[in-house]
Amino acid sequence: MDAVQKIKSMKSRQRIVMLTAYDFPMAKLMDGLVDIILVGDSMGMVVFGYDNTTKVTMQDMARAVGSVSRGAKNSLVVGDLPIGTYDNEKDALKNSRLLIDAGAQAVKIERKPEIAGFLAKNGINVMGHIGLTPQTITNFKVQGKNEEDAKKLLEEAKAMDNAKCFSLVLECVPIGLAEKITQSVSIPTIGIGAGVHCDGQVLVTHDILGLFDAFKPKFVKRYAQIGNEMKGAFERYAKEVREGKFPSDEFSFH
Ligand code: KIV
Repeated sequence: MDAVQKIKSMKSRQRIVMLTAYDFPMAKLMDGLVDIILVGDSMGMVVFGYDNTTKVTMQDMARAVGSVSRGAKNSLVVGDLPIGTYDNEKDALKNSRLLIDAGAQAVKIERKPEIAGFLAKNGINVMGHIGLTPQTITNFKVQGKNEEDAKKLLEEAKAMDNAKCFSLVLECVPIGLAEKITQSVSIPTIGIGAGVHCDGQVLVTHDILGLFDAFKPKFVKRYAQIGNEMKGAFERYAKEVREGKFPSDEFSFH
């Protein structure tokens, strides 16, 4: 069974674990501990310091996918297609192939079931993403809260399933609706701010490590405060250099 089929087969049987990574060392540390490594366009915010994800380019993504895939020998690597790179079938296929050539085993797109279907027909493994879709959304709130919006989201999920996505990210969706969607589609759902009933979970690694503190959405749990650890190391190094304590004899050549 290939890696993508394995993820599909985990639906309702085994919870899927996904995190983001954007470089070799981070990928190497999480390889095999998570089922999927997403090279997300969240990179634009947590690595490049932009206000949103829309300035990330294909060149940025291909570089990051290459770096991550060299560190990931066991986890499935999925690359995000940036905004504007899958507006039509031709661009979508060309850019997906660029990420596959760079080392991804699948691509992720936000909404657009017709493009997902075209890519799948052309042999590309597609992860869909619905709910709060950061590339295009203006209302950064929980999605599908009223009956009409909830119905639309359920229909959209079914359309992504029919388009042969192999999995579907649900972002910022009420727990009950995410459960209903999960029960209504044949593919695994992977939640971020979508409650415990999804088939898997994803978070942005820099959020869980305390490396990004511009803001913290309610759904983010901090599992470490690596940012503080790093700051402490920078302070100690700077102090020792300024006081002439580093490099001591131990770190010098004679
Ligand atoms: O870009 C990203 O990291 C994502 C996840 C938050 C799902 O799309």
